[in-house]
Amino acid sequence: MELKDMLYEGKAKQVFLTEDPERVVVRYKDTATAFNNIKKATIVGKGKVTSAISALLYDFLSKAGVKTHFEELLDECDQVCRRVKVIPLEVVVRNTIAGSMAQRLGLEEGTKPENVIYDLFYKSDELGDPLMNDHHAVAMKLVTYEELQVIYELAGRIDSLLLDLFRRAGIHLVDFKMEFGRTAEGEIILADELSPDTCRLWDIETGEKLDKDRFRRDLGHVREAYEEILHRLQKVINQ
Ligand code: TMP
Ligand code: ASP
Repeated sequence: MELKDMLYEGKAKQVFLTEDPERVVVRYKDTATAFNNIKKATIVGKGKVTSAISALLYDFLSKAGVKTHFEELLDECDQVCRRVKVIPLEVVVRNTIAGSMAQRLGLEEGTKPENVIYDLFYKSDELGDPLMNDHHAVAMKLVTYEELQVIYELAGRIDSLLLDLFRRAGIHLVDFKMEFGRTAEGEIILADELSPDTCRLWDIETGEKLDKDRFRRDLGHVREAYEEILHRLQKVINQ
């Protein structure tokens, strides 16, 4: 597949047009950023691990009937994906309280609520991706209430499937972020990335953090933790 102009460059990925107007190539980069680009680093070898994990999770979800933008790996860091219009919302699902929710509400990290928590953040670098609610998103015409219902249903299904898959790998899926896109036909499908860059993943036995918090909190061994996630998932998938 021939790569044409770069359509978009984000903090951890590039998106290229191809000769096929319905398909793009998403390239996973070795860069890591946190706190809206305040902290930056290059982690050599990260792109191929996040790409492999994303591809594995997308394959797993597609087999379970969830529609995603992912089609195939072109090479280690490059993925052929369906071209969609990404909805500028970060949809966060929380199974355990951590991160910004723990900080904002003064809750202890690791607290397990009885319900699953869904947050929306407005994707805007200038505004620092602020938290918003359904009514804000509809008022800003980012989505309709009907589309939000579809998004929450999909998010809940994806959470149950991933929670179970990670559990079989000895990992607790604490929380994760998703982005959704609209196809040319207006269908909402899962887009962007699913990897330790966009999830919180704790070892069930030891509680060790195996995700981007290692980078955010200067815990070291970021790539090694990501590789551990990949190997454990591959083992479970191949069983
Ligand atoms: P938060 O606790 O900082 O709101 O993050 C919740 C989840 O979303 C966590 O798994 C990390 C992920 N996330 C991203 O993927 N991108 C982001 O820009 C942020 C802020 C969080
Ligand atoms: N992705 C965001 C950034 O690049 C924040 C984060 O993941 O912590 O700044």
